Amino acid sequence: MTDGAVAAAVSFLRGRTALVPEIALVLGSGLGPLADALEGIAVPYADIPGFPAATAPGHAGRLILGRLFGRATVVMQGRVHLYEGYSPQEVVFPVRVMAALGARLLVLTNAAGGMHPDDRVGDLVGIEDHLSLAVASGLDPLRGPNDPATGPRFVSMNRAYDPDLLTLAQRLGGMRRGTYAHVAGPSFEPPALIRLLKLAGCDLVGMSTVPEVIAARHLGLRVLAISAVTNLAVDSAASPHVTTEAEVWEAVKIVQPKLLSLMRELIPVLPEAPA
Ligand code: HPA
Repeated sequence: MTDGAVAAAVSFLRGRTALVPEIALVLGSGLGPLADALEGIAVPYADIPGFPAATAPGHAGRLILGRLFGRATVVMQGRVHLYEGYSPQEVVFPVRVMAALGARLLVLTNAAGGMHPDDRVGDLVGIEDHLSLAVASGLDPLRGPNDPATGPRFVSMNRAYDPDLLTLAQRLGGMRRGTYAHVAGPSFEPPALIRLLKLAGCDLVGMSTVPEVIAARHLGLRVLAISAVTNLAVDSAASPHVTTEAEVWEAVKIVQPKLLSLMRELIPVLPEAPA
C-alpha cells in the first residue's frame, strides 16, 4: 500500500466531509452499535478507494465521520483481520488513512478470550502490552520499504499503549489491565497454545489490534486499546468446553452498554494534542 493509495482515500473522504477528526475509534467484533451515538456521515468501506472490504461477521464495514460525545471522531464500524486473507499491510491501511485525515489518538476495541483467573465474561480490560507470535514470525505490517517521512524504520513497542490514556480509562471504567496475545486465527487456539500464552504472562487472546497498534505507533499516534472478554479460554484438552462464535456474540451483547458508558465518559476527557 503506497502513500498514493492513502492520499487517494483521504481525498475521496475529504470530498464527503470537511470534518477533521482528532480521535480514531475502531469498533471490534459486534461492538459496532456504539457508532449509533455518533452524528455524522457513514461511508461503506467498499466505496473508499483502496479500503479492504470487511468480511467478518459482526463487522458492518462502514467508516463514520462525525462528532462523538462532542469530539471530532472517525469511527471504523468493524475492522479487517489477517484471517480474512489480508496482508498485514492491508489490515493497517485504514489506520494510515485515519491518521492522514488528522487523527492523533487511536482508540481500539476488540473481543477477546480471557486467560486471567479474575476474568469474567463481559469484563472490559485495558491492554498494557502485547505478544504476537504472528508478528514475531514475519507478519509485521511495517515489513518492507520504509519511508522515513512517514515514520522510523524501527519502532519501539515499549509504552506503545499510552500509560496516561490507560490509567485514565482504568479510572473511569474500573478495569484491570493486561497483556493481549495476538493470534492470526481464524481457528481458535488449542488448549496447548493457551497454556503457552499463559506461561508467557498473557491475560487476553484475540485475532486483531496488534497490527493496528504497530502501524499507529509508527505514525506517532497515541494508542489506547480495550478488550471485551467474550469467553474464557480453555487450557486443558480434558475440558468439555468447546469455544464457539455464538458464545462470543452472546457476550458482546452484555459488553456493548458497558463500553458505551465508558466511551461516554472517556471521549470528552481524552487529551487534545499528543503529549
Ligand atoms: N480467541 C481468539 N479470538 C477471540 C477469542 C478467543 O478466545 N474470543 C474472541 N475473540
